[in-house]
Amino acid sequence: MFSERIRSLPPYLFADIDKRKREAEKKGADVIDLGIGDPDLPTPPHIVEAVCRAAKDPSNHCYPTYEGMLSFREAVAAWYNREKHVRLDAEDEVLTLIGSKEGIAHSAFAFLDHGDVALVPDPAYPVYNNATVLADGIPHLMPLRQENEFKPVLNDIDRETASKAKVMFLNYPNNPTAATVDRTFFKEVVDFAREHDIVILHDNPYSELTFDGYEAPSFLAVAGADEVGIEFNSLSKTYNMTGWRIGYAVGNSELLKGLGLVKTNIDSGAFQAVQIAGTTALTGPQDCITANVAVYRQRRDILFDALSSAGMEVKKPKATFYLWAKVPPGFSSIQFSMFLLEREGLVVTPGIGFGENGEGFVRFSLCVSVERLKEACERIKGLDNEKTKRRLF
Ligand SMILES: Cc1ncc(COP(=O)(O)O)c(C=O)c1O
Repeated sequence: MFSERIRSLPPYLFADIDKRKREAEKKGADVIDLGIGDPDLPTPPHIVEAVCRAAKDPSNHCYPTYEGMLSFREAVAAWYNREKHVRLDAEDEVLTLIGSKEGIAHSAFAFLDHGDVALVPDPAYPVYNNATVLADGIPHLMPLRQENEFKPVLNDIDRETASKAKVMFLNYPNNPTAATVDRTFFKEVVDFAREHDIVILHDNPYSELTFDGYEAPSFLAVAGADEVGIEFNSLSKTYNMTGWRIGYAVGNSELLKGLGLVKTNIDSGAFQAVQIAGTTALTGPQDCITANVAVYRQRRDILFDALSSAGMEVKKPKATFYLWAKVPPGFSSIQFSMFLLEREGLVVTPGIGFGENGEGFVRFSLCVSVERLKEACERIKGLDNEKTKRRLF
């Protein structure tokens, strides 16, 4: 019944975790979900008020324009200039998206033909790999290893693959490893892209969730980047707006044209009231971001201390709301996740769900209240690696 492309998608591990979570809850377990990357904090009130006002205006009830309202794209350009020191032409260097996931997935259709190679980090947000598969392209995995600070080693990509590759997906600050990069890395990427004529698709939705003085650079802030790539960004994590479905792509106008062409044939743009509220978010007071970051920083410190004192190997992240921890010896990432769920009522995401190089790690997210997180930490502190191993096997 289903197309070959649907059948060639890898199994969706997260659905299985969800099922097991529901089963545990049915049995009466008090489950704490540190698996999902979805902010528990509400959208700031001034943004909610803006959407309410805009939703009442009948002029926002029609089809929006495909590329998005100019006022929203101007707000994005002004925000990028202010926050990322990147100058953009709102007319043709900004494209509105129905969440960045939509644009990421559609970009595979804009740039890949049957059999074209896409360079895909592993572990990674699954959409890069799966959109490539759906577009009939061939993912070539770039391992993100701990010894390389979870950055791909571009020199490890053999010349033949590099010459066949049409696009490279990247994402820093990174989900799931929480790794960060500086501009030097992006400069290397630009050189590589120029040498091999590769389109860079940089995904930057965690750009504002940074700690301890770290500032996440835009890929476009590096000289030459606007010639080779585009960057996806989103209001989802920055302003707690995951459910609103509003994001954007910025950068090279020709590349954006290609993405826009796919979109005009598939969707009909983002609801104008949401774009108007998005404009309010980008141009209004930004202290909501500072407050958000303070919340995540506190949660990060609490969880980091608990994991460390339970003997788990984990690095304190400089960005994102994730902690990427090594599983104790003797466990696979699935076994350890199932163990945490069944014994402690904790949901975490097994690293293998993000790709084969994610094996050996689990991802903890920080999207629960401090009170619940402290409860989770109490349960984690009770873990002793050796005992744990014996009980399981
Ligand atoms: C790396 C990465 N990219 C993109 C997205 C999707 O964001 P959006 O809500 O803008 O579609 C996520 C969401 O979790 C993500 O982790």
